[in-house]
Amino acid sequence: MLMISVLLHISANLIAHTPDNSFLGFVSEEAARADVREEELEPETYKKDRMAVVYGKQDYMWQGKSEYVEVISEELETHATVYQPPGHSSNLPGSITNHGLLSQEHFLRLLRRAKVFVGLGFPYEGPAPIEAIALGCVYLQPKFDPPHSSDNNDFYKGKPTTRQISSQHPYAEEFIGRPHVWTVDMANRTDVKPFTPREFTCEGMLERVRGYITHQDFCSKSVPTWPPESALRMHLGPLGQSCVSVCRRSSLVCEPALFHHLNSPSAFTRLGLGCASMGQEDYHLFPAYNPWGRHCGLQQEPLLFSCAGADPSHRRLCPCRAHPPGQVALCPDCI
Ligand SMILES: *[C@@H]1O[C@H](CO)[C@@H](O)[C@H](O)[C@H]1NC(C)=O
Repeated sequence: MLMISVLLHISANLIAHTPDNSFLGFVSEEAARADVREEELEPETYKKDRMAVVYGKQDYMWQGKSEYVEVISEELETHATVYQPPGHSSNLPGSITNHGLLSQEHFLRLLRRAKVFVGLGFPYEGPAPIEAIALGCVYLQPKFDPPHSSDNNDFYKGKPTTRQISSQHPYAEEFIGRPHVWTVDMANRTDVKPFTPREFTCEGMLERVRGYITHQDFCSKSVPTWPPESALRMHLGPLGQSCVSVCRRSSLVCEPALFHHLNSPSAFTRLGLGCASMGQEDYHLFPAYNPWGRHCGLQQEPLLFSCAGADPSHRRLCPCRAHPPGQVALCPDCI
């Protein structure tokens, strides 16, 4: 009994659950181990087949998951290691090859041949996904939405924890992630349909060409007048961020033709910035604000206006604008 209870305490801490507990962990199969490397070089002993292995050694773990497993078995030869009592027939779908319980050695050999290790939602946070990933499998696991917790889940009910479990293996989801770990909505069967962004269709191309022919002026030396100032959404970037990413974070695009509207003392005032000094320079990140010394920098050479580029001591003034769906080059009201 003592032995069992000690094991339970250790196993509860196999994975770094929360910072409340220290994380002792365990040692997994190592991807870079020398003998594994050698085997990798031998194509016969380390060759991936079009094969998936399902994580779940007991029948009940598969309950309600047959549709999900069937979708996978349509694409990949699907293997299981579910315990089968002698004399009982398996409840698994007919398309699954069941090996019964395997020794660790044989289980690892199976994983070594597989491309995908499929989690069904239980057990939580076990060591097997870590081993599968170390052997070159992609770990496909269900996302829990809403997260499992002691409020909504029998396994966690009564356990002294307020954790919210976001997937079968939150460590794999958060600390390993893609390409090794794919956390998916198991019930969502939306097909990936063919898709062409509007700007790559004939109509989208013609719309864009028309916009350019009508509005762009290559002969005038004055500042651009298109897109119009009404399209401007002025943003003040944080230190070290380019205008490309500042605008993208607001689902907008950076429009270099609007920079000249920001290149004046009044732009700094409109953004609530008080300038202790103001200067004009040839510097591709300008107009920008330097909080140390509250220096406001204006661009001297309009040819240097650029959406790209950032440095850690400047907050850039960014000319963002919206765009219609599937037509990044144009703005909604300037076609
Ligand atoms: C299913 O997935 C698609 C594609 O990711 C998404 O657009 C859709 O909202 C999802 N449906 C549900 C019910 O979550």
